Amino acid sequence: MAIAILVGRTEKESKQWEWFINEWKQLMLKQDPSLDIRIWPEIGNANEIDFAMVWRHPFDSLNQLKHLKCIASLGAGVDHLMEDPQLNKQVPIVRLQDPYMANEIVQYVVATVLHYVKRLDVWEAAQKEKIWYRKPPFNFSDKTIGILGLGYLGHKASDALQYLKLNVIGWSQSPKHIQGVKSFHGEEQFNEFLSQTQVLVCMLPLTPNTKCILNKDTFSKLQDGAYIINLGRGGHLVEHDLLTALDNNKLSGACLDVFDIEPLPVEHPFWSHPKIHVTPHIASVTNPSTAVSQVFENYQRVMAGEKLLHLVDSVKGY
Ligand code: OXD
Repeated sequence: MAIAILVGRTEKESKQWEWFINEWKQLMLKQDPSLDIRIWPEIGNANEIDFAMVWRHPFDSLNQLKHLKCIASLGAGVDHLMEDPQLNKQVPIVRLQDPYMANEIVQYVVATVLHYVKRLDVWEAAQKEKIWYRKPPFNFSDKTIGILGLGYLGHKASDALQYLKLNVIGWSQSPKHIQGVKSFHGEEQFNEFLSQTQVLVCMLPLTPNTKCILNKDTFSKLQDGAYIINLGRGGHLVEHDLLTALDNNKLSGACLDVFDIEPLPVEHPFWSHPKIHVTPHIASVTNPSTAVSQVFENYQRVMAGEKLLHLVDSVKGY
């Protein structure tokens, strides 16, 4: 009975994540000093591994663990697992649902929405020119925030935005009922949702259904001058379509936390685009010290043959 930690697609990436790997190992050992924890690729006999703790594992690694009973994602997202063409879909996957991380995400959404709605960039630019430019901020009640994805995190973000008296609507694949939020679902209600949205916040999981959902068609159905906030995944966004929609003023701006290629390459046009704010995938950063108890709990549940927490639906992909 052993646990493997697999972090980093390549050796170089694993090296960069060494601190993260060590922190997880130490925190798990604090939960139970007798645990046998091995770090990929030094895992000894692969058949002894029951439980894998994973973030962007190397392809051709998990499939070697023939007796695996559970894969625990060391993040909220599981697209990094689903991308593995050799992933054994019979092995249950669990993901993190950490209230600490959720808070971080909610704070990011609130900060970026308010940055736009309160026009902080306008005042910053005016200050640089020493201009007393008292164009009033948008009227809060005028702006409708549309959240794409009303799962655990989307729900929490909508509560926080509503607390600030912002008008919040939401869209998800299946029907959701959240107090005070007009909710749309499915393909048939997507356009109606977009037509009412002025600030579009993407919090969706990345799946084949949601890949490239932020594209020119989607943008064309939003209100003119809409603003985009993407903290889902880079794969949700068609980058070229965003640039076109910004350049022809269909969209007024975007705040992006996630990208197709991370770190964002220095020559990428997003870095210097006047209407784009870039943040380096910091909307939520896994905090091993708050998340370890649920990973350990799931390990114990696997050993006891009990129902797992935060199980991923491998058909839906989240
Ligand atoms: C996550 C992330 O999925 O950090 O947890 O993006």
